[in-house]
Amino acid sequence: MITGTAIAAAAVFALAGCSSDSGGRGGDAGGDAAAGFEEGSVIGVALPDKTSENWTIAGEIFTDSLTEAGYEPNVQYAGSTSPVPDQQSQISTMIQDGAKVIVIGANDAKQLGAQVAEAREQGVTIIAYDRLISDTDNVDYYVAFNNFKVGQDQGQALLDGLAERYPDQTSWNIELIAGAATDPNATVFFDGAMDILQPKIDDGTLNVVSGQTTFEQVQTDKWDPANAQSRMDTVLQGFYQGDTNINGVLSPNDTLARAALQSVTDAKKGPIVVTGQDSEAASIPLIMSGEQYMTIYKDTRKLIAQTVDMIKALAAGETPETNADEDNGSTEVPTFYLDPVVVTAANAVEVYADNDKLAPLTK
Ligand code: BGC
Repeated sequence: MITGTAIAAAAVFALAGCSSDSGGRGGDAGGDAAAGFEEGSVIGVALPDKTSENWTIAGEIFTDSLTEAGYEPNVQYAGSTSPVPDQQSQISTMIQDGAKVIVIGANDAKQLGAQVAEAREQGVTIIAYDRLISDTDNVDYYVAFNNFKVGQDQGQALLDGLAERYPDQTSWNIELIAGAATDPNATVFFDGAMDILQPKIDDGTLNVVSGQTTFEQVQTDKWDPANAQSRMDTVLQGFYQGDTNINGVLSPNDTLARAALQSVTDAKKGPIVVTGQDSEAASIPLIMSGEQYMTIYKDTRKLIAQTVDMIKALAAGETPETNADEDNGSTEVPTFYLDPVVVTAANAVEVYADNDKLAPLTK
């Protein structure tokens, strides 16, 4: 049976080779990217280790969507033991196997320079997925949810939640948690949040009792919840003795939010207003009960659909649609940003209504 998708894909492939000047970075990617490529071409997808649920579900969605679009997907995850060399060798193998496009969710954004340079040399187009690859000219496109906006939304939600939960106070005790320094998103989330929180720290509305306010002081190695929890345990023991209570925690994602909740419960403090991100299944019941004040919904299906649209455009010899340029420290990378959605108990039912996995968890 010929499906509508198959017809659309065939039409796209028919265009391949017809366009001589695609413009954009795809066109000057060393090889003959402007000429497009054929149905059945290998598309590599190099994902990081599974530090959160969004990565865990991305692999299967990529495999299904790329297959449905008529390509041959080669989807690989870095292992958790030595993710950087894993990812480097996976990308090299994808290049050798003739991948036309390689989609990369970087483990360490600064350690893929040699691999993407080789890709450029071989005419392979590189799309950075969710995490931008830093300090290299050899990244053609970037597709992500707007990470700075994610951070700002988290900062604002923390302020809103504190005023809601502790209405009798005019100042609140908080602590800050950030993600892994190797992930460029972690600094962007933190900078976005501090854009909102710093003025409130400066005017005394927020009191970071530990005094730990720099990214270096609050980052979480490997995004590992055990690391965040042990730092929080130490902070609570050291700075929250006696009557000193903690009212809130800025957490960059759901995995670390649950670690913070555990730490505060163990220390018999709180209850805290805590932020999150990713809409992980394990956090939705906590959102509904209010234990975790907020999360962010970055629908992985949408991000992958946007990435596959980019690949289809490249196959047709066209320039993919972008709506921003993002500086990676070396060049301005044409970027497509999607909008993140803030979720609290107040709107969770509505936001997750079309998600078969999450909607039942809101009942
Ligand atoms: C992603 C987040 C995720 C984190 C840890 C980040 O790069 O954007 O959604 O929580 O990695 O896996």
